[in-house]
Amino acid sequence: MSTFAFNEENEKKFQSLLTRYPDKASLSLPSLWMVQYQEGWISEEAMVYIAQKLGTSAMDIQSIASFYTMFNLKPVGKYHIQLCKTLSCMLCGSREIKNHIENRLGIKFGQSTKDMKFTLSEVECLGSCGTSPCMSLNEDYKENLTIEKVDEILDGLK
Ligand code: FES
Repeated sequence: MSTFAFNEENEKKFQSLLTRYPDKASLSLPSLWMVQYQEGWISEEAMVYIAQKLGTSAMDIQSIASFYTMFNLKPVGKYHIQLCKTLSCMLCGSREIKNHIENRLGIKFGQSTKDMKFTLSEVECLGSCGTSPCMSLNEDYKENLTIEKVDEILDGLK
C-alpha cells in the first residue's frame, strides 16, 4: 500500500487525462510530472501509486522515471541548478563554471547543500547551445554564463 497520493488538483487532472488516452499506460509521463510538481521529486512510493493507478508494474514506471534525467529520484533543494556538460557549453567554459559553483556551494554534482537550499546536477545538452554555457535554475534558463554572472544569480537568491 502506497503512502503517496495525488493531491486534489492532480487527481482531477489525472481523471481528466484518462478520458483523452485510449491506453492508461500513456499517462505514465504526465503522471510522473504531476508527482514531481506536487512533491519536488519522485519517490518509490509514488511510483508504486502511479503503477497501481495505471494498471502497470512499478518496475515499468521506475524504468521510465530513471530514463529521463529531468525526473528527480531523490529530494532536491529549493534551487535546483542543472549545468549543461555537453560540447558547446564545455567549449565555452562550463568546466570553469562547474568548478566555481562547486567551490562556492561546497557541493559536487549530484549533491545538495545541508540546508537543502541548493542541488547541483549535470545534464546533457539543454538545447540552448547558441547561448553556451548555460544552466537551468528550477524552471528558468540562465545563459551566456560567466563566473561573474553566476555570482550575480546566486547572490540574488533568497
Ligand atoms: S551543449 Fe549546452 S545547451 Fe547544448
